[in-house]
Amino acid sequence: MEEVAIIGIGCTPVGEPWHKSLRNMAVESTWAAMEDAAIDQVDALIVGNMSSGNFNDQESLGSLIADYAGLGNISAFKVEGACGSGGAAFNAGVMAVASGMHDTVCVTGVEKMTDVVGDNATKILANAADREYESIHGISFVGLNAMIMRRYMYDYNVKKEDLCAFPVNSHKNAVHNKYAMFRQEIKMDAVLNSPMVADPMTLMECAPICDGAASAIITTKERAREYTDTPVIVKGSSLKVDTIGVHDRKTVTSMKATVTAANDAYKQSGLSPSDIQTVELHDAFSIMGAIGLEDLGFAERGKGARFAAEGQIGIGGKLPCCTFGGLKARGHPVGATGLYQIIELSKNLRGEGVVDAECGLAQNIGGTGSTVSVTILGRG
Ligand code: COA
Repeated sequence: MEEVAIIGIGCTPVGEPWHKSLRNMAVESTWAAMEDAAIDQVDALIVGNMSSGNFNDQESLGSLIADYAGLGNISAFKVEGACGSGGAAFNAGVMAVASGMHDTVCVTGVEKMTDVVGDNATKILANAADREYESIHGISFVGLNAMIMRRYMYDYNVKKEDLCAFPVNSHKNAVHNKYAMFRQEIKMDAVLNSPMVADPMTLMECAPICDGAASAIITTKERAREYTDTPVIVKGSSLKVDTIGVHDRKTVTSMKATVTAANDAYKQSGLSPSDIQTVELHDAFSIMGAIGLEDLGFAERGKGARFAAEGQIGIGGKLPCCTFGGLKARGHPVGATGLYQIIELSKNLRGEGVVDAECGLAQNIGGTGSTVSVTILGRG
């Protein structure tokens, strides 16, 4: 197996750009990453996207984006894993290079969620749940996460005030990120007093519905220095699944797919949680931040929210998390999110970010933990 490295990164600003279509955004980020790697061709394009058929009436994204990016007659296809599609596509790209199948691969995550009206985005997102046992009864994604949150608060006697630390931290870190959707700080009161979406979860605990694209160019570690002086090494990349329905799990306050993907990625890298210096958590909802810290091995069971409330996830803290604003404030264009995490981690490792780190981890969740990828990156 070849070792894999990231040699180029690029993205679009996250938001609601009415003047850009799905393909415009995907091409923009693909070209930005290729320019960063100083290359004009790749051997394959792997696209991470959750639901372009429903959001944009457009499928066949491999062909569409390769065509409009001018990449010609290459290998290109789409990978889907709900909100974890970006991380799943990156994992597929790593496999393609590690196996020796392709030398250079562009992985592009893209989602344009804001072209549908009314509650259609909520309905499309609910397709990631179990249709026959969950979404058919009208439960939304926010609703499922709110139930997990309520159970977690009950089991571990956790106060909502502690969970607020996640959105407060993400908004603070988004201020310096020119690609972030919400670049303003918020205080705990703003989170507590924002409109209730699904009791006990308020608006300011949820990631927004938005558009964006992000790309990474990968090649073998051996060839990486031909392209860049600052390659980022993929030390571990794993994707695991769990039951699609929350009701089929022994516990809802831990995600087996995160635990197993993390264990696998730690094993591949030879590292343990104490070696990780920064984390891009899948903080789509405040509760996911707390459970993520615990499942990844950074906090004791039931103590993830306290860990955050004590300031340990801030820049300058013990474990800086969501350093460019996370899903909550940078934004969560679902199929692109896993790639935003990879490029943000890469910036930190290349010395172009906000924390000086040798090694970092990204966790990207699809569904309510039904598909989870964990990536560990290190300085080259
Ligand atoms: N955080 C902060 N502000 C938000 C926001 C969020 N998540 N979502 C919307 N807003 C703001 C908008 O910018 C807008 O502000 P303005 O009035 O100053 O322009 C205002 O709130 C109303 O926006 P609107 O689009 O009408 O919100 P909404 O009520 O339709 O949607 C949520 C709010 C929380 C329901 C929606 O963002 C949501 O469903 N989020 C979860 C998405 C999701 O499940 N993703 C997958 C997770 S894995």
